[in-house]
Amino acid sequence: MKNQSINVGVVGCGYWGPNLIRNFWALPDSSVKTACDSDPVRLDHMKKLYPLETTSDFEQIIDDPDIHAVAIATPVSSHYDLAQKSLMAGKHTFIEKPMTRTVEQGHELIELAARKNLVLMVGHTFIYSTPVRKIKEIVESGDIGDILYISAQRLNLGLFQKDINVAWDLAPHDISIILYIMGMSPVSVNCQGKNHFNGSKIEDVTNMSLNFPNGGFATILSSWLDPNKIRRMTFVGSKKMILYDDNKPLEKIKIYDKHVEVPEYYDTFGEFSYSYHYGDVQSPYLKQEEPLKVECQHFIDCIKFNRKPESSGEEGLKVVQILEAAARSISKNGLKMPIGNLITGGDKVFPMTEDSQARRYMS
Ligand SMILES: NC(=O)c1ccc[n+]([C@@H]2O[C@H](COP(=O)([O-])OP(=O)(O)OC[C@H]3O[C@@H](n4cnc5c(N)ncnc54)[C@H](O)[C@@H]3O)[C@@H](O)[C@H]2O)c1
Repeated sequence: MKNQSINVGVVGCGYWGPNLIRNFWALPDSSVKTACDSDPVRLDHMKKLYPLETTSDFEQIIDDPDIHAVAIATPVSSHYDLAQKSLMAGKHTFIEKPMTRTVEQGHELIELAARKNLVLMVGHTFIYSTPVRKIKEIVESGDIGDILYISAQRLNLGLFQKDINVAWDLAPHDISIILYIMGMSPVSVNCQGKNHFNGSKIEDVTNMSLNFPNGGFATILSSWLDPNKIRRMTFVGSKKMILYDDNKPLEKIKIYDKHVEVPEYYDTFGEFSYSYHYGDVQSPYLKQEEPLKVECQHFIDCIKFNRKPESSGEEGLKVVQILEAAARSISKNGLKMPIGNLITGGDKVFPMTEDSQARRYMS
């Protein structure tokens, strides 16, 4: 498909789908042939913006031989059904985060895509953003030392969802960023959550901790019940610290030359004292680029050149595994839950125990 323009069918034209349509429409080597939504009002709106075909019948998209790829931007409960039909019909498939509602469903989609030699990609948009890529580059250069811990806050007033809690809604962004930067998966998760309205079972505030095999940990606070819109992450290294504020129009990343020094030798507790190092604060130049544009181009490139996406089905599945374990932990009042991480070998997927994963990272 190297020299071909890729025709995409986009399903779901609510809040996020139109952004996918805008980007696939604008890329030089893709186009949106058809937009699909069960709500005719949304389809009328899309028709006013772009000269594309519209349908409320998903079968029309998968039966169309001129559509090479399907992008799914519907609520998570419908992701599996739509993606399964799309892959069965031989379409390369992009699914918005979180990939599926269960680990089992995610597994099935990965196996199906592999069997049919199709691209399966998940919308982990932030890993395609310049600030997150810059942070990864800084961490990998060793400039901030070993990561001691990461803290993430994604807060706002609303938007309350009816089918998923705030962790499933907002934490996929933070989890995908953390896995990308750490380059490893956590072995266990603790999560507490509260719902404050109507006796609903859907938590509007959650606090999650991911525990990594190297002893590092990350905390993620997600809330629909906060007066301010906050999208902030701190990466605390043994030498320096990085603050990432995605709400800032400029200078989204600040690198603080700060750390704690512990004396190498001391004989008595009286001799022991920390000293604090305060150095410069730097804000690196970041190219202004829409992450979603980079993400959509990456999907098209993976189709054209038969490559595996950076946010592949496997990466999507890791996030779903963590969310499932977090849900189990919430139901047990924050008890630590192991995450059976998955290693793929050939066409088999092996569950990993906490021990075997720790050994793998140590070796
Ligand atoms: N990557 C990102 O930064 C980002 C940001 C926002 C939302 N999202 C994701 O995008 C997806 C959609 O979220 P949203 O906020 O746009 O939701 P939304 O409720 O605003 O829109 C969903 C649309 O899908 C339509 N729909 C539902 N089921 C359908 C079906 N079976 N067939 C056809 N149409 C159907 C609805 O009518 C609605 O118009 C979610 O998975 C969400 O997590 C991703």
